[in-house]
Amino acid sequence: MTRRQPLVAANWKMNGALQTVRPLIAGVLAGVADGIPAEVAICPPFVYLPEVGRALQGSRVALGAQNVSEHAAGAHTGEIAAAMLMDLGCKYVIVGHSERRHIYGETNVIVAGKFVSASRAGLIPILCVGEELSDREAGQTEEVVANQLDAVIQAAGIGSFAAAVVAYEPVWAIGTGKVATPDQAQQVHAFIRLRLARHDTGIADRLRILYGGSVKAGNAKELFAMADIDGGLIGGASLQAEEFIGICRAAE
Ligand code: 13P
Repeated sequence: MTRRQPLVAANWKMNGALQTVRPLIAGVLAGVADGIPAEVAICPPFVYLPEVGRALQGSRVALGAQNVSEHAAGAHTGEIAAAMLMDLGCKYVIVGHSERRHIYGETNVIVAGKFVSASRAGLIPILCVGEELSDREAGQTEEVVANQLDAVIQAAGIGSFAAAVVAYEPVWAIGTGKVATPDQAQQVHAFIRLRLARHDTGIADRLRILYGGSVKAGNAKELFAMADIDGGLIGGASLQAEEFIGICRAAE
């Protein structure tokens, strides 16, 4: 079996202030310095990227963004280009988060465009997929996730997944405290890997698939122990250094 280095990524969402960024990063860096088996990444809001980037310089912790424009440059008021994120030292960018899909109307086509523009610029996209509760109850989890994946594979090509990460985030588990059971998550993670393996087994085998949705220090270990769960994308619990470090420690 391929050994995949686990990744634990913090998605701060629209939280924080200049005064809270510094102590939070200091706490994370202190925890990471103690030795963490996983790769760690922090995705703050755009405006704090320079500040967080400076604080992370020389550390093992990577910088990421939460969103990116599908366009390269030009008349797109309020948007941020992939090249700008590269400029600021980002390694990762989250694309297709369910909040972008559901609150801001990002379709599979838009998400695929963002994935392509991130890849082209040299960023590692963290592609989020996941079903809503109604999809799960209707037995359509795999169909929804397959459509989300296929749109990106079609637009970007399977080769681009060699430098990408997928995050499975069931919408009903995000910010609800209702975490998927390790078996529920594992089932979808295995499905995602299989879906990519239809195109390229090597790439599928090496792809890191993160779980996201109400991960806490207390439930991370049993999730990360599953065969196809290669780390986590952490929302609420990433806003407290100690809790976040507890999650990072659970990934081996
Ligand atoms: P929570 O960890 O707050 O449930 O959020 C998960 C998430 O959406 C990470 O991207």
